[in-house]
Amino acid sequence: MKIGRWLIAGAVVAVVIWKADDIIGTDKQQSAAPPAVTETASAIASPSGSSGDTGTSEATPSAEPSDTATPSTDSPSPSEDADPDGSSTATPESSDKPSDASDEPEGSAGSDSLDALLQLNAPDKTIEVGKNGVATVTNPESMLVLVNKKRELSSTYAPDDLVKPDVEFSFSGDSPKQKMRKTAARALEKLFAGAEKDGITLKAVSGYRSYATQKSIFSRNADLKGEEVANRTSARPGQSEHQTGLAMDVSSASANFELEPKFGDTKEGKWLAAHCAEYGFIIRFLEGEEDVTGYSYEPWHVRYVGKDAAKQIMKQGVTLEAYLEAAANGATKA
Ligand code: DAL
Ligand code: ZN
Repeated sequence: MKIGRWLIAGAVVAVVIWKADDIIGTDKQQSAAPPAVTETASAIASPSGSSGDTGTSEATPSAEPSDTATPSTDSPSPSEDADPDGSSTATPESSDKPSDASDEPEGSAGSDSLDALLQLNAPDKTIEVGKNGVATVTNPESMLVLVNKKRELSSTYAPDDLVKPDVEFSFSGDSPKQKMRKTAARALEKLFAGAEKDGITLKAVSGYRSYATQKSIFSRNADLKGEEVANRTSARPGQSEHQTGLAMDVSSASANFELEPKFGDTKEGKWLAAHCAEYGFIIRFLEGEEDVTGYSYEPWHVRYVGKDAAKQIMKQGVTLEAYLEAAANGATKA
């Protein structure tokens, strides 16, 4: 009997030892599991190391890979907006390439079409006065939009077809201020090429400016020159044609690439005034018209309006304000 008991007791002890070993082995495997999970997480955090966006990805391990796949390089970055000169870099767009397919849809509309267009863009039909008393234009995308101190662009308006014209600039590097709306950009290329044919070298200085950029430019000018002077030479945010993407400031080596009235006395400035309309541009701020335009003479600031309107405006020697007003009253005929 005693021998039988010992045999049973030995068998029980053997089973317990075998089971305990099995349990310890399982625990080992479980304790090895977390590092494996960690490795998986870090692989998600740096997908083939391409985006450099590991911080964001790590915070949202399995979330939207598209965040890292499509960085938003098209829209002006806050740093660009904080840079009044627009000298910070902007990523060039593939759509910036010149394209022959881009006609000027509103450029040569014919006189009947132009008359219809002028009626559509009549100043009193293209304005909305808000509760705050601010008058905002309702046709910001029109080539005939009238923006001035009494007619603002919304702070959120930005053209969606900005491209960099293939012309010479007065500065190096990439900047949002090199851009214009596509139709205006193609017309500027033709203008600069036409100038070169006549032995005139123009350089582009400043085109598109966002609301935020204009805000910092105006406040910098107000700090430097005082608000009254700034108000005659620089637009307040929302009141600048540069926000439309239809304007470009142009200068020349003979004027040290400065935006000063003396540019109007150079051969380049004279050529620009004489020929810009052939390409759809007007000199927007004429000498002696400060009371109408709100700004002193700017022989460097050209504004795209389309060829037909530009030819009439420059031939008549009138402001855009006067031209549109007269057209709305039926007084403008080709
Ligand atoms: N210099 C013009 C008026 C502008 O700032 O838009
Ligand atoms: Zn300008």
